[in-house]
Amino acid sequence: MIISKEFQDKNIVELGSGTGMVGIVAAKVGAHVLLTDSHEYPQCLELCRQNVDINGVKDNITGIWPLSWGHFDQQVIEMPSFDYILSSDCFYDEKDFEDILSTVSFLIDKHDNKETIFYTTYQERNSDWSIECLLRKWSLKCDYICLDDFEGNTSCVTGSDLSARHTIHLLKITKQRDIV
Ligand SMILES: C[S@@+](CC[C@H](N)C(=O)[O-])C[C@H]1O[C@@H](n2cnc3c(N)ncnc32)[C@H](O)[C@@H]1O
Repeated sequence: MIISKEFQDKNIVELGSGTGMVGIVAAKVGAHVLLTDSHEYPQCLELCRQNVDINGVKDNITGIWPLSWGHFDQQVIEMPSFDYILSSDCFYDEKDFEDILSTVSFLIDKHDNKETIFYTTYQERNSDWSIECLLRKWSLKCDYICLDDFEGNTSCVTGSDLSARHTIHLLKITKQRDIV
């Protein structure tokens, strides 16, 4: 079960932050959070800055940086390691899937002696899409987290009165250590 204590004092990076809501909530429960979004959308980074100010979490935000999935510039190469990587609604365009997972794999590999966990939500947009082959390629494994485990399946969270029928999922992705 995911509980807020899990994130207390942990180092977290959020990918594709958009409004920064996920990272800001993590900061609210005591994590140290780096918010990131694409180099191509500086307006998202500006939005994150404003939302960080409005929500009074500046002290727990370690930075608001451009980070484009699949781009390994000097800033990404020199990034510290993280306990958690978070993202929500970033798997919406199939052409980006490998870029996201290669970035995740790179960031997980930075953490030599500890397990970095990537939590991500996605909405099913096309039943033909799958990340299974890409997970294998990047030596990642994926556990499906049941939203009922933490009352994440209620209509106020899913935005649907038909909570049983919505198509939002939560995944926990880690490194597949036993593959050589
Ligand atoms: C659907 S929005 C989700 C935003 C936010 N995570 C949320 O749940 O509200 C996708 C986000 O990914 C960012 N994004 C799109 N392509 C990207 C890329 N290649 N690298 C990094 N971020 C990207 C967009 O700027 C946008 O903020």
